[in-house]
Amino acid sequence: MATETTPEQPEAYTALLEDIERHATVKSASSVLSWDQQVMMPEEGTPARSKQLSTLSSLAHELLVDGEIGDHLAAVEDATLTAEQEAVVREIRRQYRRANCVPRELVEDISETTSEALGAWEEARENDDFATFAPYLETLVEVKREYAAHIDADADPYAVLFADYEPCLPLSQAESILDELRETLVSLIEEIRATETELAIDAFAGTYDTDTQEELSRDVLEMLGYEFDRGRLDVSTHPFTSGNQFDCRVTTRFDEEDPLGALTSTIHEFGHAYYTLGLPDEAFGSPLGDDRDLSVHESQSRLWENHVGRSEAFWELLLPKFQDAFPQADELTPRAAYEAANQVYDENFIRVEADELTYHLHIIVRFEIERELISGDLAVEAVPDRWNELYEEYLGITPPSDAVGCLQDIHWSHGSFGYFPTYTLGSVMAAQLYAAADREIEALPEKIRTGNFEPLGEWLRKNIHRHGARYETNELVERATGDSFSADAFTEYVTEKYSDLYDL
Ligand code: CO
Repeated sequence: MATETTPEQPEAYTALLEDIERHATVKSASSVLSWDQQVMMPEEGTPARSKQLSTLSSLAHELLVDGEIGDHLAAVEDATLTAEQEAVVREIRRQYRRANCVPRELVEDISETTSEALGAWEEARENDDFATFAPYLETLVEVKREYAAHIDADADPYAVLFADYEPCLPLSQAESILDELRETLVSLIEEIRATETELAIDAFAGTYDTDTQEELSRDVLEMLGYEFDRGRLDVSTHPFTSGNQFDCRVTTRFDEEDPLGALTSTIHEFGHAYYTLGLPDEAFGSPLGDDRDLSVHESQSRLWENHVGRSEAFWELLLPKFQDAFPQADELTPRAAYEAANQVYDENFIRVEADELTYHLHIIVRFEIERELISGDLAVEAVPDRWNELYEEYLGITPPSDAVGCLQDIHWSHGSFGYFPTYTLGSVMAAQLYAAADREIEALPEKIRTGNFEPLGEWLRKNIHRHGARYETNELVERATGDSFSADAFTEYVTEKYSDLYDL
């Protein structure tokens, strides 16, 4: 990309692309080191690895703000650019502005605070003692407010923090989608709990050899279209995906008593990887070869995890393979497997173990608490009570301890306020994208039932992946689906699916 000069391409634009490619390359090198740290690195490797990662991170920051990127951006200001070039400049300018207006001491301060906070959080969770973590959380709230003020002193600080993860969706839009979900889900879950309908929730009871689970996960990845010559499957404590269009790796985890957990995690991470691998090769290092942020990324993982992997058609396809691997499951029917994969829990306190419906209420609790913390309406010491109060209000349950309550997630110890909503926004977007694909691809469920994933994969490649960060989120969704991004398709999807499952 950077070396291709068309006659109308201004020199400063070419130089800008070259510089941003260097920046992106340093960042992608650190992501390989961080993958290695979580998957391969021997136990004692941490001291050197931390130095390697922090050096690369300052180097990336320097390449972005201290080099000539600022000059190039100024030089292309009045140049005549194509729409695509304008999009590239828009993306680089946004990154540059954010990085440039936060003083280096504050960046270092935040990074030191988060590394101390991480240890305190681990200890607090281990001992179920919120007080151990509270002072660190307080400092994190302070430094993140300060950070937000440097970027935009006039804006709602939470909106500024949210834009670190989701730069292209206004917070007000995210908020109205979450509000709508809360309405829909609280009453849908109440209805489900009031029915007599019993699902086959114990369909997968028993123990399942983890080596065989791993083979099955590999088969599923292959079947969905994962390119093993551009990726790998490994095991890590928390499943994740890392890489670029040439090399994008996934991890999963195995539990002898929970074969569904490994399968859904693997399919989720496949969705992330399939997106990254679908970014255009020739645009590596440019925003045109980069993903469109967290909500769109999560829409890709949730689409495969929920709309494909939790569908009845998929279980008709997968069950015979599952039974080949695990003959103990030979009595299982596709319907029972489908029901087990979609049960709504009466009492679950843990976000990452939640079902497709209650999951979003876990997120909404965190979203509301974060906003109150950042606005100053909620004191840090009041977080545990506020947490339990909201769990009671939205989910009708009270966590028995802070360890399975407000201390369960790592995000706040990283100072990541504003991250949680992107999980839910991704699911909502997934429903809208899947509905559009289903309209355009003839007999899509039948294709899934027969293991033909290509039409859906192609649809996503064409409508989402190949665009990189060319369009902002709302435009991307609207171009792909014909409608503006909203909660409508998600509401319709969950109402229809769960009314059928629970005979509502
Ligand atoms: Co994800």
